[in-house]
Amino acid sequence: MKGIILAGGTGSRLHPTTLAVSKQLLPVGDKPMIYYPLSVLMLAGVTDILIISTPHELPRMRRLFGDGAQLGLRLAYAEQEKPRGIAEAFLIGADHVGSDAVALALGDNIFHGSSFQGVLRKEAEELDGCVLFGYPVKDPQRYGVGEANASGRLVSIEEKPVRPRSNRAITGLYFYDNEVVDIARRLRPSARGELEITDINRTYMERGRARLVDLGRGFAWLDTGTPESLLQASQYVSALEERQGIRIACIEEVALRMGFINAQACYELGARLSGSGYGQYVMAIAEECTGRV
Ligand code: DAU
Repeated sequence: MKGIILAGGTGSRLHPTTLAVSKQLLPVGDKPMIYYPLSVLMLAGVTDILIISTPHELPRMRRLFGDGAQLGLRLAYAEQEKPRGIAEAFLIGADHVGSDAVALALGDNIFHGSSFQGVLRKEAEELDGCVLFGYPVKDPQRYGVGEANASGRLVSIEEKPVRPRSNRAITGLYFYDNEVVDIARRLRPSARGELEITDINRTYMERGRARLVDLGRGFAWLDTGTPESLLQASQYVSALEERQGIRIACIEEVALRMGFINAQACYELGARLSGSGYGQYVMAIAEECTGRV
């Protein structure tokens, strides 16, 4: 399965903070926001990932991650000239996807939950059509909203409905088989002039090939859209990290635990950041892993 992280857009609800730097590079806790979706794709076992962003921001993303080899990844970069819709990711990324399935992660979505890796691996392995991940929220009208039947088949989906039929928000993580590229090519822009991801998901639903997996209680899906929610996300991450002595979305640790890199390589990545608590954590994790780095 290939991966795409869509990290463009204008971040207008965070202006003036995002006038000169992209939202996805702002810190959430002790690391850039884009580390979170990247770690989710890595936990799903995806190593071949295209990062899509604005022409202005792409060089910064490249500076952050390079070709990804240090993490055992293959990272590529592509521009989205204007925010023409989330589904445009499959047109921009068509060559990258090739004949594979693909996982799309929005660059501003933050997930955290203990058994997430197992869920991701299972859904990626058993993928047949598309898999969406639903999360109960109290303000569903702000999101894509879905309903599933008892066996988990998606039976309705609407984008930002005024009167939502359920409280299940569709989160910004989507698994698709290869048909998604064809479906994206046939899409027409919506009333707001965008290629809507919800229209892709509706096509899969109409073909009876869309699953909605519930992330449910005990799981965190955090918003980063406004200054308040961004601060709350940072506080959530810091509180957990401080209390448990672990780090969420530490991509070097994920790479090590997934077997993408060895402990020595992990230690060296940490050593480059040793001026920060983050870097020291990476070094400690690597040492713990071998007991003798
Ligand atoms: O976060 C989950 C929600 O994301 C879903 O529930 C909705 O169904 C889906 O449409 C989307 O809703 P948003 O209102 O959050 O979409 P927004 O336009 O804010 O875009 C989400 C992220 O994707 C944002 O960080 C910017 C980026 N983006 C967006 C568009 C439209 C791009 O990079 N390029 C784009 O063309």
